[in-house]
Amino acid sequence: MNRPVMEGLRLNVPAYVHHARLVAWVAEVAALTEASEVYWCDGSQAEYDRLCAQLVKAGTFKKLNPELRPNSYLAWSDPSDVARVEDRTYICSQKKEDAGPTNNWMAPDEMRALLQTGENALFRGAMRGRTLYVVPFSMGPLGSPISHIGVELSDSPYVAVNMRIMTRMGKAALEVLGEDGDFVPCVHTVGAPLQPGQQDVAWPCNPTKYIVHYPETREIWSYGSGYGGNALLGKKCFALRIASTMGRDQGWLAEHMLILGVTSPEGRKHHVAAAFPSACGKTNFAMLIPPHGFEGWKVTTIGDDIAWIKPAADGKLYAINPEAGYFGVAPGTNYKTNPNCMDSLKRDVIFTNVALTDDGDVWWEGMTDEPPAHLTDWQGKDWTPALAKSTGAKAAHPNARFTVAATNNPVLDPEWDNPQGVAIDAFIFGGRRSTTVPLVSQARSWVEGVYMAATMGSETTAAAAGQQGVVRRDPFAMLPFMGYNMSEYFQHWLKLGALLEGQGAKLPGIFCVNWFRKGADGKFVWPGYGDNMRVLKWMLERVEGQASGVEHVFGVSPRYEDLTWDGLDFSREQFDAVIGIDKAAWLQEMQLHGELFQQLAYKLPAELTARKQQIEAQLAA
Ligand code: OXD
Ligand code: MN
Repeated sequence: MNRPVMEGLRLNVPAYVHHARLVAWVAEVAALTEASEVYWCDGSQAEYDRLCAQLVKAGTFKKLNPELRPNSYLAWSDPSDVARVEDRTYICSQKKEDAGPTNNWMAPDEMRALLQTGENALFRGAMRGRTLYVVPFSMGPLGSPISHIGVELSDSPYVAVNMRIMTRMGKAALEVLGEDGDFVPCVHTVGAPLQPGQQDVAWPCNPTKYIVHYPETREIWSYGSGYGGNALLGKKCFALRIASTMGRDQGWLAEHMLILGVTSPEGRKHHVAAAFPSACGKTNFAMLIPPHGFEGWKVTTIGDDIAWIKPAADGKLYAINPEAGYFGVAPGTNYKTNPNCMDSLKRDVIFTNVALTDDGDVWWEGMTDEPPAHLTDWQGKDWTPALAKSTGAKAAHPNARFTVAATNNPVLDPEWDNPQGVAIDAFIFGGRRSTTVPLVSQARSWVEGVYMAATMGSETTAAAAGQQGVVRRDPFAMLPFMGYNMSEYFQHWLKLGALLEGQGAKLPGIFCVNWFRKGADGKFVWPGYGDNMRVLKWMLERVEGQASGVEHVFGVSPRYEDLTWDGLDFSREQFDAVIGIDKAAWLQEMQLHGELFQQLAYKLPAELTARKQQIEAQLAA
């Protein structure tokens, strides 16, 4: 194979790389960005350790106290680069209507001129003075028929080490790719070229940010941010935005869903995929410990954020977790809310934007009842509980994260790496709503379920830059992650359901949940966390046709006596407060559905408008 050596820059292609198209593309991007060096990641532990040591030397990482948190690191980002930037995220399809009304759009040629081809294109010379890391990765178990390969070219070693945890990264992914396999090209720069002799900063980034997807050519170009989903391009950019368009074209689903296994005391196992918006407890739900009264039940994790789901010849939907690690929200995680997560975080973790304790460990709001007497906060400043009381200063950023391998999880499902995936028995859709939406309701049909998911609303969180706590419609918890027109995505779900039903398949049950209703005192009424098992058990019994419930205008919900209350003191009145349907609130809610449907009118499936009219007629009756 021809191994190009560019003028002044060796491509350093390892002998095990046999993919000419990949090498040519690396050469092209290295030339455009004027990277000073090219390094191909092999994904080994030695490489990871070396890059982490380099990040410590550069001041990006602090090595945590090995006695307290072995082999773990802490990074503090630039205060301007702490979350996904939805307003800087673009779907550049040829036609604007194919991106749909919920996405930012720019014509591909215009965007390419801005980023790649124009005289002052942002990527031109963007990696000057930096190493370009070639990061090959598999989304999903290596070689699975549901998996796909991507290659990220990034000038951030922080990205390279995070990608090693979050994906199956390195030589093994290249072996799957072979000589001419397809891959999704992902280009990332922090957008901070270095002049000769210029001292680097601990977290290079650029105030200008572009997170760009070309769905037709399946490419990702990300500029200016080093943080999370903006920079770890396998996650939201590939596994959701690009993969959703691949799923549309190829007849499968790419979803913002955790996947868990539930095993009953009798040994019967079910699999559930659940969609919640960012920072609404997906990781907690995926690692749930059944409460007192549920002895013998076991919940195991297949994934905590993303599911790729394909129909198989047996008419069932099989799901894999395309990721290999968790990039979870740290604040609020503790031994009460998620003991399995806390145990996962004992070693081999990269923390970002949590606080540093005086003995070299980490802390975040909610980790312990009592905060330490002194901390260094995520911006490197002194922090004390007294200061927090007087100024409200947070020790950890509310979107502070941990990156940890799935294999650290003590309740990892034995099937998590199965290339065939697991058969899904139920889909759950849940938003964060302090009012209106009941604890749980089951859809009576696939169409009703799609309606529930399509009209879901949720209060915004710190996972994305912007205002927090405002209710916005977040269809399927996919609003920030859809790679094409939302209404056509609804149609894709309807079509898949109709296809499987037409083949005589039993479709998974669809449920809508809300753990977040608040009482008059402003406090959550439902205990949540492990007690969500009570709801999960009812849902699985419904799938099996074993549990009762009561029909209402939006579906079927349990009565008090339909749930198992052993081990929890929760009164009928409290239950009414989380399950009740307030007609006035729902009349208002339907107006919001109406506004959503107006926004999504182009190609909105008629089944959904019909379902809305039915609900409105029933509410009016
Ligand atoms: C995430 C998110 O990081 O949804 O998973 O923001
Ligand atoms: Mn997510």
